[in-house]
Amino acid sequence: MEHIPRHLAIIMDGNGRWAQQRHLPRLVGHQKGVEAVRQVVEECCSLGICHLTLYAFSSENWGRPADEVAALMGLLATYLKSELKTLLSNKVRLRVIGESEKLPKNIRKTLDEAVERTSQNDSMTLTLALSYGSRAELLNVCKSLAARVGCGELRSEEIDEELFSAALDTGGVPDPDFLIRTSGEMRISNFLLWQLAYTELYFTDVFWPDFSREELHKALLEFGRRQRRFGLTAEQLLKQDRSGDGGNH
Ligand code: FPP
Repeated sequence: MEHIPRHLAIIMDGNGRWAQQRHLPRLVGHQKGVEAVRQVVEECCSLGICHLTLYAFSSENWGRPADEVAALMGLLATYLKSELKTLLSNKVRLRVIGESEKLPKNIRKTLDEAVERTSQNDSMTLTLALSYGSRAELLNVCKSLAARVGCGELRSEEIDEELFSAALDTGGVPDPDFLIRTSGEMRISNFLLWQLAYTELYFTDVFWPDFSREELHKALLEFGRRQRRFGLTAEQLLKQDRSGDGGNH
């Protein structure tokens, strides 16, 4: 495929409804969801995608029934333990964004170990958004920059988009080129609000547990057909392309 996004972000949605349709407990939907995570991570590695970010647990998800929260945490721990070998052999670096201090201690330990053990990998960066909410992330940046201005370390005029981006949890990772949300919902749900400014959005009715390699390819074909103009005109982009200055629009 000609147009592979450098950074793909996914809102994995519909585990519960997938299970409900089959008269199964929601947990089975989440278990199937983990299978989909495995497949998609491997496929993204094979396709040469540099950054994959998965919205695995939002700050709002803490409000779910305690047994569902516990089950999701358990699935996350199992995934990390069972996949570490594959992540290492595929040279995948693991990162976490969100208020991970709110996660149970044992999960944090497993995550920290996986992050540490994969820190030298350079083939693909897999970012898990856990206990993540974009508004909280933005507020934290504002507070930390305000504190730096307050103590004289930084002048307010020095705050620009680059500095602001670098202070986000995602600092150092390029903004997503393409966002996929499954299950027919057409919302951003407090995910990467700053980072998605120019991201191409793709919504599919497919529930996350059914999001297969084929579905990923379908989405990427659609990405290849999009023209990303970043506020410019089509003619300007054509000129840029001719002068060899254009990227993937
Ligand atoms: C959305 O389905 C999914 C989640 C809230 C959790 C996603 C988690 C996983 C796929 C498993 C663990 C993650 C990793 C990275 C191993 P939903 O429950 O909101 O579905 P519904 O909207 O149909 O109820």
